[in-house]
Amino acid sequence: MADQVTIVIDGKTISAAKGEMLLWAALDNDIYIPHLCGVRDDEEKPASCRLCFVEVEGRPMPVTACTLPVSEGLVVKTRSERVDALVAAGFELLMSNHRLDCKNCPANGDCALQRIAKARKLRLKPKNLPVLDRGLPVDDSATGIVFDPNKCVLCGRCVRACLRGGSGVLGFTRRGFERVVSTFGDLPLSESGCSGCGDCADACPVGALAKKA
Ligand code: FES
Repeated sequence: MADQVTIVIDGKTISAAKGEMLLWAALDNDIYIPHLCGVRDDEEKPASCRLCFVEVEGRPMPVTACTLPVSEGLVVKTRSERVDALVAAGFELLMSNHRLDCKNCPANGDCALQRIAKARKLRLKPKNLPVLDRGLPVDDSATGIVFDPNKCVLCGRCVRACLRGGSGVLGFTRRGFERVVSTFGDLPLSESGCSGCGDCADACPVGALAKKA
């Protein structure tokens, strides 16, 4: 068994495996920290969604829980004015670029965005930013999977899952506002070498990639 350390999160003393990332130690102990891009067993930690900020005693700035290994005596707060402001701003930015169609979305009821909004009392519909729907075509070409890039939050979980599964047909392309998950040459999934395994849909936290019913 890995060495255990004792840490304190929101006043609760817990035991965690030394070196485990704080995000997973918290979730294991029913302490919710918003997150989208982090996957426990992935070696790569892109820390790109910027939603898992926490305050750590002795550190001047909030840090991302998905990249912070736990160590003996760590004292953490999952909420503070600064953390809440960072999470709210990051979430609003994400939602300004996400096609909101919960009623017709396969992830409705099991969506990470809905969970974050509920936990942090945030609006799914941005209040301060305009919604910029990119109007990208939905790829319905694969046998078992449908991909709506307008719902994608660019967390990269599908890209890593596809690579892990051995296909590696998904990747990021373009920059800035134009950035999307796509296939090599922007081919439809059916022509991309996609095996249809569904790992990408299982990994997607928001219903951008979904298995066909
Ligand atoms: Fe930590 Fe995305 S889960 S930055």
